[in-house]
Amino acid sequence: MIGKLYYIILKFIRSSKIITSYIWGIKIDKFLHNTFWDLTTLVLKKELNDIKQKKKYLDMGCGQFAILGQFFKKINISSDVTSVDIYEKFVENSINNSELNKTNIKIKKSNLFSNIDEKFDLISFNPPYVPSSQKKYELEFPNIRYSEHEGLKTTHDFLIESKNYLMNDGEILLGINTFYVSQTHCNKLISETGYRVEKITKMKFNTSIVFRLKSLRY
Ligand SMILES: C[S@@+](CC[C@H](N)C(=O)[O-])C[C@H]1O[C@@H](n2cnc3c(N)ncnc32)[C@H](O)[C@@H]1O
Repeated sequence: MIGKLYYIILKFIRSSKIITSYIWGIKIDKFLHNTFWDLTTLVLKKELNDIKQKKKYLDMGCGQFAILGQFFKKINISSDVTSVDIYEKFVENSINNSELNKTNIKIKKSNLFSNIDEKFDLISFNPPYVPSSQKKYELEFPNIRYSEHEGLKTTHDFLIESKNYLMNDGEILLGINTFYVSQTHCNKLISETGYRVEKITKMKFNTSIVFRLKSLRY
């Protein structure tokens, strides 16, 4: 009963333009689906809030508003932000939204790093981590939620490729909802792909966590 109520309230607040503007400082006009952010986005925001030294930031899988990229640019005006997503429609909507909010960030389509040719000192990703086996019906944008290999295929590929796009002191913020993938599974993948965990960030009443990672190469 309490779980159901929590879910209903959460669904309401994360599709509210007013609450989104209050939490993120970002206005919303047009949207393509009615989840404007999720529990993992919130924990990533908490961690981004503490980061002041990073200047070149890649917001991987930026979604329909590039909400993290815009947020980071607002709190670090001199930063150079690039936001990318696999869906053209998300890229178009994010460009329109960033014009509305007057945040000067670059936004383009890219399947992970397929359209990226520079290095960053910070890369974040709130990847699709719900196991594909849990998909019950077809969705217009399945890559928002679902990934193969028990939810970890996209994250695996992201971690492998990221190393080529990180500066020497570069860091990754990887957000995962442990309701879908256990922390143990995440830790295993992180060490197998050649990273060490610098920090873990959590929030009360939130099952998502953010791993702050450095490549073992450096
Ligand atoms: C859980 S949503 C996160 C959206 C937004 N960043 C947020 O935190 O609210 C995951 C996003 O990653 C994108 N995505 C999934 N696979 C991707 C890939 N291979 N390359 C780029 N983006 C991808 C999806 O389209 C979706 O917008």
